[in-house]
Amino acid sequence: MNYDFDRIIDRSNSNSAKWDRYRGRDILPMWVADSDFAVLPEIQQALHRRAEHPVFGYTETPTHLIELLVERMRRLYHWNIEPEWLLPLPGIVGSLYLACRATGNPGERVYLPSVIYGPFTKAPGMNSMINQPIPMCIRDERMVIDMDWLEQQPPHPGQLLMFCNPQNPGGSVYRENELRRLAEIVRQQELVLCSDEIHCDLILDRDRRHIPVASLDPDIEQRSITLMAPSKTFNVPGLGCAFAIIPDRVLRSRMKTNPYIVPHVNIMGFAAAEAAYEFGDEWNRQQCTYLAATRDYLVDAINRIPGLNLGPIEATYLAWIDVSALRLDDPMTFFENAGVGMSPGRDFGDPGHMRLNFGCPRSRVEQAVERIAKAVADLG
Ligand SMILES: Cc1ncc(COP(=O)(O)O)c(C=O)c1O
Repeated sequence: MNYDFDRIIDRSNSNSAKWDRYRGRDILPMWVADSDFAVLPEIQQALHRRAEHPVFGYTETPTHLIELLVERMRRLYHWNIEPEWLLPLPGIVGSLYLACRATGNPGERVYLPSVIYGPFTKAPGMNSMINQPIPMCIRDERMVIDMDWLEQQPPHPGQLLMFCNPQNPGGSVYRENELRRLAEIVRQQELVLCSDEIHCDLILDRDRRHIPVASLDPDIEQRSITLMAPSKTFNVPGLGCAFAIIPDRVLRSRMKTNPYIVPHVNIMGFAAAEAAYEFGDEWNRQQCTYLAATRDYLVDAINRIPGLNLGPIEATYLAWIDVSALRLDDPMTFFENAGVGMSPGRDFGDPGHMRLNFGCPRSRVEQAVERIAKAVADLG
């Protein structure tokens, strides 16, 4: 079956955060990371089926979903996990805070990449902990954490290191040798690693593969919290379903959610996750092919606009565009005035960039490029 990613779906009046921000204004919403693609039909069917049952009580992780996840980790990532390592969670952002709380105390430091998805930088402070940014570096045009810097740091037993693979923003996919080096640093410095892998199934190139860092060896496995979710890949972030994989029993019990501060996973989120992981492989293969073609178009088109620069994007539907050469006081307002609503780079630690979400029909991306090109040309 061929899925239609070109289809334009009217999301106005669907209570969409992405679309409601610019309601009534001619601004293309290309900011928050949900896509404008219709979900896999089996997801919608599973939700319909569940909605037909008239009672929506508290729930537990479906056994079938656990089986699917164990099988998926083995099949896609050659990672043999035990069912009890899985911890269901209503979202990843809250889990970043939980990871800080589970591993450290107020006043202690947390390593995190200096350019990163914004909520990472808020998580340590929520537990009165202190951000310790890891500088980023560019390797073969890919933004990755600077392991040379990290390697030189003294051991901090028990200190948390959070990172994101694939990297948001930037879309870099960490290579096996990089992950092995990171795992070795974590081991030598006796750190705990929290790896946000929410974008792991949005790898755009066939010759790349995602490697969960925890899958590399039993030592890093025991020191790690891996966060994953169907939300980005299968476009169900509004359904609130994610999970952590935590092999170490003590760490897992510390991460266990407290029902007074973290709600249960939504019963519909579980239904969607089950359908996504059971039936979604071919849909996602086609989605990645579609996104890769959009990416090729976008990288070429943006780099033709004088003053803009866009490096390779290996994963995600998020383009990290360098606009620093334009010397704009307020890049977000400038591009909104041009009719394109992107995420400002300052939210990720770099005000010289803008993040454009290209998870939408290509015609909309083309329209956005036209608007951006015109606005930049008008600058003179
Ligand atoms: C790296 C990363 N982590 C977490 C999230 C959000 O996860 P959740 O909606 O499950 O809180 C996003 C959303 O864009 C993300 O890019």
